[in-house]
Amino acid sequence: MRRTPALRRLAAETRVHPAELILPVFVREGLTEPRPIAAMPGVVQHTLDSVREVASAAAAAGLGGIMLFGVPAVRDAAGSAADDPEGILNRALTAVRAEAGDALVAQADLCLDEFTDHGHCGVLDGDGGVDNDATLARYEAIAVAQARAGAAVLGLSGMMDGQVAAVRGALDRAGHADTAILAYSAKYASAFYGPFREAVDSQLSGNRRGYQQDPANRREGVRESALDVAEGADIVMVKPASNYLDVLAEVAAASPVPTWAYQVSGEAAMIEAAATNGWIDRRGAIEESVVSIRRAGAEAVLTYFALELAGWLR
Ligand code: PBG
Repeated sequence: MRRTPALRRLAAETRVHPAELILPVFVREGLTEPRPIAAMPGVVQHTLDSVREVASAAAAAGLGGIMLFGVPAVRDAAGSAADDPEGILNRALTAVRAEAGDALVAQADLCLDEFTDHGHCGVLDGDGGVDNDATLARYEAIAVAQARAGAAVLGLSGMMDGQVAAVRGALDRAGHADTAILAYSAKYASAFYGPFREAVDSQLSGNRRGYQQDPANRREGVRESALDVAEGADIVMVKPASNYLDVLAEVAAASPVPTWAYQVSGEAAMIEAAATNGWIDRRGAIEESVVSIRRAGAEAVLTYFALELAGWLR
């Protein structure tokens, strides 16, 4: 059953389809042309114009959606630009909706780290720690602003306890019952987010181990996913992907809702760096990594390779 390409194709247990791929996209306020991200070859910070181009390319490629991240010009302790209707992420959402309409699912990262001057995913208490419950009120306001701006799916990546229930309630009260929640349920405090720090010009000096999960814990990832489902999550996610395939498989097996995974910036960077050195075959490594994430149980994959991979799949 392995002898020819046709036999292997027939025997394949897992397929990757463009509709299951979601492209993460960065939009930076005040740019006049796209700016490359050194640690992420081929990935740029977009302008409000170039984000329209990438949205129409993603729609033409048949991608499932794009996940937008905003990089504001001005940051403060509360991350005020996140729920400002004129904030960069909300303006980008509206631009993407205008460009791609219903051909693409417009999604937004719902977190504070890109918008705070201290770089944490929540507001801080008097001791400099993240104040979980005060942060929930900020997430509620951001959720409503993002839904108004046109997001169909909100990606709750902040890892605050109770964030899914809080955001669900706020959306429903504001008349956005149809806006879906993608819960970054099993999100680990990972070194593999390194290049992302440059992508969003992160102001963080410490780490996120006080609220993101310990990489040592598998059972906890399954429990976090179950909690998010009970709070109203429409989709659960495991992140990063490649080093957490065991967690992903277990979450996917137990989850009554779709399970996605995020192939994060550092996973992509390792492939790019090794390929640039001629140490691995770039296309082979990309295809193998994404099919492995699908095989482990992810029904959709957020990946910086989404557009390129969709092109190869044609
Ligand atoms: C938080 C967020 C992060 C990523 C996605 N959403 C950074 C973090 O938690 O430190 C990382 C994505 C990547 O590395 O590609 N808003």
